[in-house]
Amino acid sequence: MSRRPPFVVTRRIPEPALELLREAGEVWVSEHDRPLETAELHEAVSGATSIVALLHDRVDGELLDAAGPQLRCVANVAVGYDNIDVAAARERGVVVTNTPGVLTDATADLTLALILIVTRRLGEGERLIRTQEPWAWHMFFMLGAGLQDKTLGIVGLGSIGQAVARRARAFGMRIAYTQRRQAAPDVEAELDASFSSLDDLLGSADVVTLHCPLSDETRHLIDADRLRLMRPTAYLVNTARGSVVDEAALADALREERIAGAALDVFEREPEVEPGLLKLDNAVLVPHLGSATFETRTAMAVLAARNAIAVSRGEEPLTPVEP
Ligand code: DGY
Repeated sequence: MSRRPPFVVTRRIPEPALELLREAGEVWVSEHDRPLETAELHEAVSGATSIVALLHDRVDGELLDAAGPQLRCVANVAVGYDNIDVAAARERGVVVTNTPGVLTDATADLTLALILIVTRRLGEGERLIRTQEPWAWHMFFMLGAGLQDKTLGIVGLGSIGQAVARRARAFGMRIAYTQRRQAAPDVEAELDASFSSLDDLLGSADVVTLHCPLSDETRHLIDADRLRLMRPTAYLVNTARGSVVDEAALADALREERIAGAALDVFEREPEVEPGLLKLDNAVLVPHLGSATFETRTAMAVLAARNAIAVSRGEEPLTPVEP
C-alpha cells in the first residue's frame, strides 16, 4: 500500500497546475519553498506514481529506487532535463517528460535583453547612477557596440535558437549557427542563416549565444581554448545551462579583455557564481530568469501536470523526452 499520494510535487508550482493534479488524484506538495535535501526528496517521493520535479532536483537511480516500482512518470517543469538520469528512468520503465515550446518566447526575449544590456553597457550605466558617481554626457561617454550588420553566432538552432534569430534579424543582425546537424533548408532560408563549425563561428561572430542542452558532449563546450578563438570585440551570452561554459576561464578572458563582454543567466553551480565574475564590469549577471514570466511559469507547470496526468491514465504523454 502506497504511503504517498500518486502525485508528488517537489516544490510549490502555480495553482492552475495544482488544480489539474488535484482533479486527477491525490497530491502532495512540499511545504518548503526551497529545494529539498536529498534525504527529504527520497522520503517525499516514496510511494509516488508521478513526480513533478523542478530543475534543481537530482533525479538519479537512487531517487527512482527510493520512489519504488510503482513510479510511472517524472514530469520535469523545465525544458532542460540534465537533472534527470534518463537512462536510469528508462531502465525502470519510468517515462520522463519536459516542457518544450512554452518557454521559447520568454527565453528568446531574455536573450535579446541580455544582448542589448551587455553590448550597450546598461548594467555598468545603472551601477554608475546608483553609486552616484559624477558623470556628464560627452561624445565618448560609455560607448558600446551597435548590432546592425553584426553577426550573431547561435550555438544550437533549436526552437529557442530560432526564436532568438528571428528577433535578432529585426535588429539588423546576420545569423550564423552551429549544431551537430545542419538545419532543414526551410529553416535556413527563413532566417538567412549560415551553417559553420563551432570554431569558425567563435572566430567570426560578434555575439555568440548558447542554446544547446547540457550533456556530456556540451559540458565546458566553451572552455579556455574556445574563448581564445573569440574576437576581442565579441560578446558571449548564455541562457542555456551554466556548465556549458567554463566559468573560471570566462572570468579570466573577461578580466584580460580577450573578449568584450559576457551576459549570463545561468551558472555552473547555481545559486553560486564564480567570484571572479562578480568584480567585472564587462559581465552582466542575472539569476536564471529565462522563463521567469507569470504566463510562462504557469504554462510550464500546467504542461508538466498534464504530462503526469496523461501517464497516470495510461495515455501518451504530451511532451516525452525522446531517447
Ligand atoms: C528550463 O526550462 O530548462 C529553464 O532553464 C527554466 O528556466
